[in-house]
Amino acid sequence: MIMTMPQQSIRQLLAQASARLQPSSATPRLDAELLLAHVLGWPRARLLAEGTHTPDVAQVAAYEALVERRANLEPVAYLTGEREFYGLLFHVDGRVLVPRPETELLIDVALSIIHRRDTHIHHKGTKGTKDSFAEDPTRLRVDSKNLGALSVLGGETLTIADIGTGSGAIAVALALHVPQAQVYATDISAEALAVALANVARHGLHQRVTLLHGDLCEALPKPVDLLVSNPPYTVLAEVDEGVRRHEPHLALDGGEPQGIALYRRLLGQAPRYLRPGGAVVLEIGSWQGETVLALARESFPGAEVTLHMQGTMAASIASFGNIANCSYGLGVRGYPDRRPPTAVWLTFHA
Ligand SMILES: C[S@@+](CC[C@H](N)C(=O)[O-])C[C@H]1O[C@@H](n2cnc3c(N)ncnc32)[C@H](O)[C@@H]1O
Repeated sequence: MIMTMPQQSIRQLLAQASARLQPSSATPRLDAELLLAHVLGWPRARLLAEGTHTPDVAQVAAYEALVERRANLEPVAYLTGEREFYGLLFHVDGRVLVPRPETELLIDVALSIIHRRDTHIHHKGTKGTKDSFAEDPTRLRVDSKNLGALSVLGGETLTIADIGTGSGAIAVALALHVPQAQVYATDISAEALAVALANVARHGLHQRVTLLHGDLCEALPKPVDLLVSNPPYTVLAEVDEGVRRHEPHLALDGGEPQGIALYRRLLGQAPRYLRPGGAVVLEIGSWQGETVLALARESFPGAEVTLHMQGTMAASIASFGNIANCSYGLGVRGYPDRRPPTAVWLTFHA
C-alpha cells in the first residue's frame, strides 16, 4: 500500500523550514516566511492569518527546493528575485550584489548635499556662499515632503554618476528623489548592467538614467556634479561564507590587503570627472577611513572631507531600511557587527 504524506499546513511548513534553516541562518523564521510568501504569491502577513491553509503539492515542492537553496546559504533576495532598497523594489539575481540597507546612508548623504547645493544657489548673493556647505549633512533629514523641492530650488540640471551601479539601486533611488537630475550609471560587468537596465525600466527612468559599460569613471561622457559609489571594498577571505559563495566576486573584492584598490583608482580618476563645486560620496569599510581620507586629500587637496561613522549609519537604517526584509540584519556584506561600514564624502568649492 502506498503511504501518502498528509497535506501540511502553512504552520507546519514554516516550523519545519525554520528548523531546517536554524543552523545556517541568523533569521530562520523570517527566511522561511519570506520564501513561503513568495511561493504562494501572498503578502507575508497573510501566512499568519491563514496558518491552517494547506498549499498544493507543487507549491510544497517549490518551497522545499527554495528552503534547501537557502540552507546552502543562497541569499533570500536571489531566491525571491527581489530586494527593497530605500523603499523601492529592485529585481536582483546572482549577477549583482544584493543592495544592503547600510548603503541607504549614501543616498541620505547625497540628497542632503544636493539639498544644500540647491539652497546655496537659491540664496546666492543674499546669504553668502560658504555657510550652508559647512553644516553637517546628516543633520538634514530628507523626507518625502521636501524631496520634490530639491531640484526646483537649484533650477538647473544636476548631473550624478553612480560608479559600479550593480542592480542600479543607487542610481534609481537618486533619480527618483531628484527629478531634474541626469544620472549616469557605470559598471564593468555587462551582466550587472543587464539587471540595472531591468530596474531602470521597472521604475520608468530610461530617459534620465544612462547605463554605461566601462572601468570606473572612464565611460562617463563629461564631468558631473556628484560622484557616488559603493565600489567593491571587502577582503574576500574575511567575507561570510554565504556571501562569498553566491554573490559576484567582482562586486566584493576590493583587492590589495585592505580592500582599497578601487578607491585608489577611483579617487585618482575623480578630479577629471567632477565639475567645480562638485562632491564625492563613497561607501567605505569602517577600517578604511584613514586610508581613503588620505587618498581623497591627495586627489582633492583643497577639499572639505567628512567621515560619517556608525551612529549615523544606525539612524539611517532605522529611518529608511526595511529590516524586516533584511536577511543580514545589521551585519554588513557578511561582516559581523564589529565591522560596520561607514561612508566618506568630500566636497570642494569652486
Ligand atoms: C559593491 S557592488 C555595488 C553595487 C550597487 N551599487 C549597490 O550599492 O548595491 C560594486 C559594483 O562595482 C562593479 N565594479 C567592479 N569593478 C569595477 C570597475 N573597475 N569599474 C566599474 N564597476 C566596477 C561591480 O560589478 C559591482 O556591480
